[in-house]
Amino acid sequence: MEKTEISAMAERIDLDGPIPSDELMRQYYYLKKAKALLTQKKEELGRPLTACVVTFGCQMNARDSEKLLGILQEIGYECTENENADFVIYNTCTVRDNANQRVYGRLGVLHGYKRRNPHMKIALCGCMMQENAVIEKIRKSYSFVDLIFGTHNIFKFAELLYTCMTGNGMIVDIWKDTEQIVEDLPASRKYPFKSGINIMFGCNNFCSYCIVPYVRGRERSRRPEDILDEIRRLAADGVVEIMLLGQNVNSYGKNLEHPISFAQLLQEVEKIDGIRRIRFMTSHPKDLSDELIEVMKRSDKICRHLHLPLQSGSTKILKDMNRRYTKEQYLALAEKIRREIPDISITTDIIVGFPGETEQDVLETIDVVKKVQFDNAFTFIYSKRTGTPAAAMENQVPEELVKENFDKLLAVVQETAKERAKLLAGQTAQVLVEDVNEHDKRLMTGRMSNNMLVHFPGEKELIGQFVTVSLDECRGFYYIGKRMKDD
Ligand code: 5AD
Ligand code: SF4
Repeated sequence: MEKTEISAMAERIDLDGPIPSDELMRQYYYLKKAKALLTQKKEELGRPLTACVVTFGCQMNARDSEKLLGILQEIGYECTENENADFVIYNTCTVRDNANQRVYGRLGVLHGYKRRNPHMKIALCGCMMQENAVIEKIRKSYSFVDLIFGTHNIFKFAELLYTCMTGNGMIVDIWKDTEQIVEDLPASRKYPFKSGINIMFGCNNFCSYCIVPYVRGRERSRRPEDILDEIRRLAADGVVEIMLLGQNVNSYGKNLEHPISFAQLLQEVEKIDGIRRIRFMTSHPKDLSDELIEVMKRSDKICRHLHLPLQSGSTKILKDMNRRYTKEQYLALAEKIRREIPDISITTDIIVGFPGETEQDVLETIDVVKKVQFDNAFTFIYSKRTGTPAAAMENQVPEELVKENFDKLLAVVQETAKERAKLLAGQTAQVLVEDVNEHDKRLMTGRMSNNMLVHFPGEKELIGQFVTVSLDECRGFYYIGKRMKDD
């Protein structure tokens, strides 16, 4: 929802009247109450109050953080990246244990800030908070935390924040699951010209290593009308590139009252004027349909990029992972995609060290990497997640062997990705300019349809525009180029 509409909604709410029963209006009621309270606090202190949102994990979390930021801004906080702020919220991830450890480490630092700032409030939300053991640990060892909520009730943030502002002691509000999808809360985009859009929540796949189905709950698709409305509003607000988000977008729509396929949804999205690029994430190989390949092939808006997690190239390991495809099926699918859409880039996720994995299994994975020639692959060391079936498997792999296999795989992945990238040398490509280059301010960074980055000399006024660049010099995973013309 746009800022003016939000303000208008909040404007209409009478703070002296009863608390609205409609969930969305209820949140706007608390938003308005929190805003009044913050205004008063700012006056008392004679300074602005700052808020900082820190995101761990995936694109879904990044989108959730935009919603948190939207509410904080609407309430009147000055948003900052400095964690020494008056309100700090960590939007956590628990897919692998190292993300959890980072949260605990950083909480120690926050405690130091809080001792020096009596107005500081610390909040935690996201996937990690859906685990009972985490909540117990925080209650016991990090009792200075003020607010904890989970993934299912993030729409209640305004209300929880207000309660936190007016009370003392730790507030914990965790839901086990929900059917509820609350639409139309404010969001603050990191980039004015591109945005993520949730099309579904949760996951029903129960891959045996993965904690996501336990912390994000069962799969729920948003209604297509709501998704399309949101995209239309984003387009009217200057967004040209969108990323449709879900744990398994290929099973979108199956449980809706009027079922619709993901490919059908994409076709509707394509019709929206102003949207020039459409991305989506993540695809499960078992559900990727011919219909989707056909729609992608015909489209000039859907980007030439498919993220298709492999996880393992060994059919035995895939079976134990409960992935429901074999090595051969994955290879056949990748081959079909490359045949139908030759300029597509295929990226993947791979886990090394799943229980029972032998060197032979890793060689099978390496074989798939060589055959598919992934344009990029995110490789992860298996992390044991309490409560998942894989955590209870007896044949956990010793750390040294995992490390050795991981390094072996990484070398091949990097080699094949470089080979793929090199193929584009000398060509031109249309990029959407995203940012000033982090390391060299004279360069701009643009993203190609296939998700590869190109750095080229230019001015920051180009941000948000499409330009054509030459792909002069391949530097492994990205290009250095020159601007040819604006599109
Ligand atoms: N250990 C390591 N990696 C994992 N992933 C999911 N669960 C685990 C785990 N327990 C990886 C998968 C997934 C990506 C988002 O994270 O590769 O595709
Ligand atoms: Fe986890 Fe598998 Fe669902 Fe992805 S598809 S979120 S890996 S359970």
